[in-house]
Amino acid sequence: MEFERSVSPSLLAADFADLGNAALRAEAGGAGSIHLDYMDGHYVPNISFGIDLIPALKKRVGIPLIAHLMLSNAPDRLDDFIEAKPDCIVLQEDAVHNPLQLIERIRSAEIMAGIAINPPRALKKIGPLLPHIDYLLIMSVNPGFGGQEFIEDTLSKMEEAHRFRVEHGLHFDIAVDGGVNIYTAKSILETGANVLIAGTAVFGKDDVGGAIRSMLTPSR
Ligand code: DX5
Ligand code: ZN
Repeated sequence: MEFERSVSPSLLAADFADLGNAALRAEAGGAGSIHLDYMDGHYVPNISFGIDLIPALKKRVGIPLIAHLMLSNAPDRLDDFIEAKPDCIVLQEDAVHNPLQLIERIRSAEIMAGIAINPPRALKKIGPLLPHIDYLLIMSVNPGFGGQEFIEDTLSKMEEAHRFRVEHGLHFDIAVDGGVNIYTAKSILETGANVLIAGTAVFGKDDVGGAIRSMLTPSR
């Protein structure tokens, strides 16, 4: 079974005074989607941007917007995110008590639903959710900040997730978030994971398109 490979640049690493242009550069450079890291200063220490960024970006770019909610109170804010209509809403599995119900709320608004799992957490904790999601986000750093080093141990979780989706005939994307760059991309793609979320490795470069292409065709 073939899963389409793409790069999803994270705006967290872009110039916050110029987010619209950063999204446009990513789109022009061949990004498959734009990754939006929502941080509340509570679930993670950092604070990023607000929900209004979603409709603002939708006026600028046509590629899908993925909202990654690193929030303690994601269930309380979910209606607001649904109203903003990103293409996918990703919940941290350890921050919600009733994930299946929330997934159904997201999907019934015709928005793709995703689950994110942090490095220390075992995939089996979310096994029952996997048939119900569109997007599995495997955190390869502990959430909170861009520019951290890739945690190699998470590669086995990616393999396990890919095996699971093939064995069960499922079609969710497997996206990897944190420390993704031209050096780590090769081993990530070899696991079967198919979406590379990258902040620093894309927006840290002048040639955004070149950075995206070189991650999808890693030479080592
Ligand atoms: C971390 C965020 C990531 C982050 C990745 O909490 O979820 O999306 O922006 O940044 P890099 O690619 O710089 O590791
Ligand atoms: Zn993220």
